[in-house]
Parts: sequence; C-alpha cells; structure tokens
Amino acid sequence: MQETLNSQDLIQLEDKYGAHNYHPLGVVLSRGEGVHVWDAEGKKYFDFLSAYSAMNQGHGHPRILKALYEQAAKLTLTSRAFYNDMLGPYEKYITSYFKYDKVLPMNTGVEAVETALKLCRKWAYVKKGLPANQAKIVFASGNFHGRTLAVISGSVDPDSREGFGPYMPGYEIVEYNNLEALERALDDPNIAGFIVEPIQGEAGVVVPDANYLRDAYDLCKKHNALFIADEVQTGIARTGKLLATCGNCDCSISCENRPEVRPDILVLGKALSGGVLPVSAVLADDDIMLCIKPGEHGSTFGGNPLACAVAMAALGVIKDEGLAENAQKLGEIFRSRMQNLISKTDLVTLVRGKGLLNAIVINDTPESKTAWNICVALKENGLLAKPTHGNIIRFAPPLVMTEEQLHACCDIIEKTILGFKQ
Ligand SMILES: Cc1ncc(COP(=O)(O)O)c(C=O)c1O
Repeated sequence: MQETLNSQDLIQLEDKYGAHNYHPLGVVLSRGEGVHVWDAEGKKYFDFLSAYSAMNQGHGHPRILKALYEQAAKLTLTSRAFYNDMLGPYEKYITSYFKYDKVLPMNTGVEAVETALKLCRKWAYVKKGLPANQAKIVFASGNFHGRTLAVISGSVDPDSREGFGPYMPGYEIVEYNNLEALERALDDPNIAGFIVEPIQGEAGVVVPDANYLRDAYDLCKKHNALFIADEVQTGIARTGKLLATCGNCDCSISCENRPEVRPDILVLGKALSGGVLPVSAVLADDDIMLCIKPGEHGSTFGGNPLACAVAMAALGVIKDEGLAENAQKLGEIFRSRMQNLISKTDLVTLVRGKGLLNAIVINDTPESKTAWNICVALKENGLLAKPTHGNIIRFAPPLVMTEEQLHACCDIIEKTILGFKQ
C-alpha cells in the first residue's frame, strides 16, 4: 500500500529530488474545483493566481475534462508526420474565433513566443527584403516572455538573464510605455518587428497608457515592422476582453476607451487549454504565416489531437459562459474594494489592473519580505496569491468566480491586511 504523505513530507521530497529553480509558497495542493483548491490535509483555499492565468475557466471544468477524456480514449498523438482528424477542425475553429487566416500550434507559451520571433525574422527576409542575418527585433524592458535562451536574451531581469550568456544577437530593448524610444529604435531599417505584452503581468501588472498599444502599432506600420502581441497571460478573457489588444473579438463589451489593435502576430498559451495541457498558438495572416515552409519549424506535440480537442472546449467555455464580461464586471468591483482598503491602511499604496488581472503595491521596498509575509498570512486565511517583483502582489482568480465569492475573497484580503503585523 502506498504511504500517505503529508504536506511537509511532500515539500521535503521536492526539495531533495527536484531542481531548486522555484521558491513556492508553503502549501501543497492536491485537488481543485472551480475557484477552489485543497491542500494535502484537506484545507480549502480560493485560488487567486490561477496558475498565472492558465486556469481562467476554473479547475476541473467538466466540459473541458469531457473533451480530454473522450479524445484521450481515441487518439492522443500522431506527430505531424501524418494528418489527424482533430487538427483541421481546430485550426478552422481558432482562426475564425480570433479572426486570422492561419494558426501555428505549439505547446508552451515560450515556444509560441520563439515561433513568433522566428516567423518575424523569416517575414523580414522574405517579404521586407532585409539582408541575410541582419534582422532585429525590439523588446520592451520589464518584459517576461518565458525562459528559453532566445527569449531571456531580450530580458532585462537579472534573475532571468545573468549567468546564462552568451545571448542571442539581433535584439533592441526599449523602455515599456515609451513611444519616443520605440520610434527611435524603429528608425533602424533592419528592424523586423516589435514584441510586447499589452499588460506586463510578471513585471507586476504594469498597465501602459491608454494610447500606447494603438500608437505603437501605428509606428510599426509606419516603419514596415511587425507588431507582435504576447497575450499568453493577458489573452483569453483575463483582462475583461477576449484579448487585451482586442481589435477583433465580438464579445458584447464595447471597445470604447480601449485601444483597438489587431496584432500582426498574436501569441497565446496558458488558458488556451484551461490549464489542462500545455497548448499554445501563434496566429497570423497568410502574408506572414506562409513565409515558413514545410520542414522549417515544428514540434512533435504541437497540434496533437488531444490538445486540439481540449483547446476547442476551453475556448467554447470562454464564450458560452461570458467569461470576458464576468472578468470585466468583477475586475471593477475588485479594484473598488481595494481602493477602499487603501483608504484604511498605509500598507497598500496602489491597486492597478484590468479585468481580473490586478495587483496591489505594498508599501515597502522590493527587497523586503513584507509582500511574501502577507501572502503567507493570506494562505492561513484561505486565499492563495504570490508576490511578483518583491513588493507587488498579483491577484488573478479564475474567471468563473461569482460576485459573492469575489466579495468573500476581498473580505479575506481586507481582514488579512488590516490585521497584518510586520
Ligand atoms: C506574457 C508571457 N509570455 C510567455 C510566457 C511563457 O509561458 P510558459 O511558461 O508556458 O512557457 C509567460 C508565462 O508566464 C507569460 O506570462
């Protein structure tokens, strides 16, 4: 019989046998349903991180699991050496959902970002006519696009970068939310494209000025460079719209006061599978996507039938359950509750975000342990969240949350912060 391990035993196992590349909060999860997760001892929590926005549809969504089980029993993987009967229908579904000509399916978010960077370079040589090996891509400082060498080469975060050189050439890094800096970079005729997160999630939910994305897109057009949106974290209803760039959804929320941009290349991941499997995607129109020819890029698992079935169900849930609309509505309630909290304490200085991607800034240095200790106290009170960049706490619950549950969560946050002793 298998011995029953408690949370402490399980933490020790990870510590002893796993690489030390993460520093998790001290909770061991063993079950999830909707907006809740349970630890190994059976204590129930509100999940207020959603696996970094991968669980937008909530834990264990029955419709997504049904698609998973049914497809798993039929066919899981063929590789792209052969056609499979799920890929075509999925490609038709996702391209009409996001209104692009073509999709290139991958698995993790960072693979999709890498794919977008390769596609951008290829387009620059094939269509823009840049001389071989001269293409440059502009990144925004503070970005987080994942962990591969090509991607960390465009990062300025010392933790992500240092000790992993030499770095990929052909990148320019400009300040986020700075259009003049972007325009100066785009003056270089060898620029192929600009990659940007519509809201910088890992950097602490940094929301740019309202005109930034629209104007950055226009600058890219003026300089014949591609605008690449990394919506791995912001996409799929998280920010209260189907996409944070949102020029092409048909959800019921008006785009008034929101910049409308249709990225040349759109990168999606995380919630594309509702957190069930690693499923990511790069979307673009023919003029760009067809620059990559057979044999030039691929992945054994990308476009596998299991992923296709799960992704169609996961995207179906987003629209059928009105999750963008719910995120928009609950996001406003959340920020107003946090604003109210700010008026009662000096410990929180700011709340920011869109939809249900929000963060509060703790009144201490980024080096301090205060935000971490608040997250430990939140855990004790039944809510799981994690600091990002020291003194910022990101709050991103599943989008299936009800208004009543959100108020219960805000009550926990308020009680924890007002009762917090340094
Ligand atoms: C904006 C963004 N891009 C890319 C990634 C990388 O995704 P993955 O961890 O699935 O490789 C992340 C992950 O947090 C992200 O937030």
